[in-house]
Amino acid sequence: MHKILTLNNISVAGLDRLPRDSFEIASEITHPDAILLRSYKMHEMEIPKTVKAIGRAGAGVNNIPVDRMTEQGVVVFNAPGANSNAVKELVLAGMLMAARNIGQAWAFSKGLSGEDAEINKAVEAGKKNFVGFELPGRTLGVIGLGAIGVRVANAAHALGMNVIGYDPTITVRSAWQLSSDIKQALSVDDLVSRCDFITFHVPLIESTKHMINAERLKCMKKNSVLLNFARSGIIDDEAAVAALDSGKLYAYICDFPSNLLKDHPRCITLPHLGASTAEAEENCAVMVADQVRSYLEDGNITNS
Ligand code: MLT
Repeated sequence: MHKILTLNNISVAGLDRLPRDSFEIASEITHPDAILLRSYKMHEMEIPKTVKAIGRAGAGVNNIPVDRMTEQGVVVFNAPGANSNAVKELVLAGMLMAARNIGQAWAFSKGLSGEDAEINKAVEAGKKNFVGFELPGRTLGVIGLGAIGVRVANAAHALGMNVIGYDPTITVRSAWQLSSDIKQALSVDDLVSRCDFITFHVPLIESTKHMINAERLKCMKKNSVLLNFARSGIIDDEAAVAALDSGKLYAYICDFPSNLLKDHPRCITLPHLGASTAEAEENCAVMVADQVRSYLEDGNITNS
């Protein structure tokens, strides 16, 4: 019997890949052979010596002490690409929210009171404050051309946007299934100065920390929009707030709320929802459950 410890809720579709006649699965279990988790932060955790594999139902592995685990011979699996459509859709929603002032307009509508005739009057007076702009012809910069970045780039292109990609390790030409109309930036600085929207699809590592800082914000086009659905810390939030206040940035859409960002009138924060769709949760859980099962049963390492 293989024992699996779950540190977060894992979609039933994934757990169903582990037949109960040979897998015991529980959120509390002694001497587990493997751990399945989503966003539980494992760095401080004492990881039982019996663990041979960890399966992260998501793309990033920054909540897992990967180096320590590797030294101990524990194999860490993740689910690259399994939630990329979900993230892409939320990035598109974020762009549209910014372009059409949806957050502010919704807050305005919710604040309306009185009879419908009074509401209509207030609507007539107030709607001029929410005139937006359209996406075709605007330029989107995509930093990171992995499974998510490529999908975002293609979808924005289909909406009529000009798209410029940049990745520190792959060229636009070699990125898998990327539309041939996507242009290549030579560097982050090159991309930053040419875009109306910039979206990030890179992990948070030493070289991406505060990739957007006060200096780079100065080089951005006036009224540009930042979208961070990757990891908190890629953008220097204090510098971004200063740029929102000075009018340099039009909006900052961020999937990580903080005290600094959550109440800013031109910042829309979400509670890390990029991968939160039923489909993505299922896809991720199925992918890592299959990987962990194959490893525990046959010693196969099949991280796709
Ligand atoms: C990811 O790395 O893919 C996301 O953080 C997944 C999640 O929200 O759990």
